[in-house]
Amino acid sequence: MDNIILVAGATGDLGGRLCRHLLKNGASVRVVVRAESNQDKVNELRESGVEIVAVSFEDEAGLVSACKGVSCVVSVLAGLREVIVTAQSQLLQAAVQAGVPRFIPSDFCTDFTQLQAGENRNFDLRKAFQSVLEASNIKATSVFNGAFAYVLQYDIPLLDTKAKTITYYSGKADWQIDFTTIEDTAAFTACAAMDDTAPRFLRIAGFRFSPSELAALTVRVFGEHFKLKEQGTLEQFLAYIQKLRTENPDGEKQLYPQWQQMQYLYSMFAAHHHALDNDRYPGLSWQTAEITLHAINNNRIAQNETAI
Ligand SMILES: NC(=O)c1ccc[n+]([C@@H]2O[C@H](COP(=O)([O-])OP(=O)(O)OC[C@H]3O[C@@H](n4cnc5c(N)ncnc54)[C@H](OP(=O)(O)O)[C@@H]3O)[C@@H](O)[C@H]2O)c1
Repeated sequence: MDNIILVAGATGDLGGRLCRHLLKNGASVRVVVRAESNQDKVNELRESGVEIVAVSFEDEAGLVSACKGVSCVVSVLAGLREVIVTAQSQLLQAAVQAGVPRFIPSDFCTDFTQLQAGENRNFDLRKAFQSVLEASNIKATSVFNGAFAYVLQYDIPLLDTKAKTITYYSGKADWQIDFTTIEDTAAFTACAAMDDTAPRFLRIAGFRFSPSELAALTVRVFGEHFKLKEQGTLEQFLAYIQKLRTENPDGEKQLYPQWQQMQYLYSMFAAHHHALDNDRYPGLSWQTAEITLHAINNNRIAQNETAI
């Protein structure tokens, strides 16, 4: 089998980085793009040495042909049901028909196998696709990376640099939360795509901290101790999110409505990794919490200077 890796979603943030790492690791990279795809991104990919196949996901024969000779299909698509369930299923069926031995679905999140249905809408969609994947005759590997580290720059309740607070839930002050940068996730996934012996699940975290550890880190990085703020129980938070979801039905058509963002925060406190596969591939390095927070602080200082 040629070592051709097919990437779907290569015009995206994770997808572009993944292609660069695959090429660096010596893989031949083929990507499927759509008529609607950003042409500047497609041109960039072409210039980097990637083979481009323009095909509609509705074109079964075209998609099967794109999958011919491929050793692993990696999906880094992002979207709602029509993408995560429908388009990924179309891609999966094409891969199976073309005889591709391996498939990596677009999971790249907290370990959703630990969560109940209804706790995170976007993870429920991944679970729906997981049922399709596991009924197929193909070897699958999911990469669970916790949250992408960049979410910390958005003043989410867990790290609010304006209010200088760290929100957590009852009994969770010492709960470890998993984070990985999108770049480190791409580097690891490139190795997993070229690893025929990869298991069903791979769990990584570039860094982990509990709310208490984060409070100590804020002293070192921001020069002040952010206040730990206990915000009731996780059960109360879940009930509040459910109420908000019911009151905002339009959010069902959006990828990241406010209640979905809260579901991500809930998931950080409801599921975490018990063991890590960070050392599976030698030579990878992981961006630390300290470096991530320093970058956030430097941005904050630069923005304040621009505003003056
Ligand atoms: N753990 C975390 O904190 C976290 C945070 C963000 C994202 N993620 C996950 O990481 C993965 C990659 O996300 P990303 O941020 O890289 O996404 P992104 O930049 O938005 O890219 C999405 C990709 O999906 C493709 N796509 C969208 N709709 C499509 C459709 N209907 N049919 C075919 N292709 C379609 C886009 O291609 P076109 O150019 O053709 O539109 C694009 O290449 C996703 O699983 C996402 O949920 C995780």
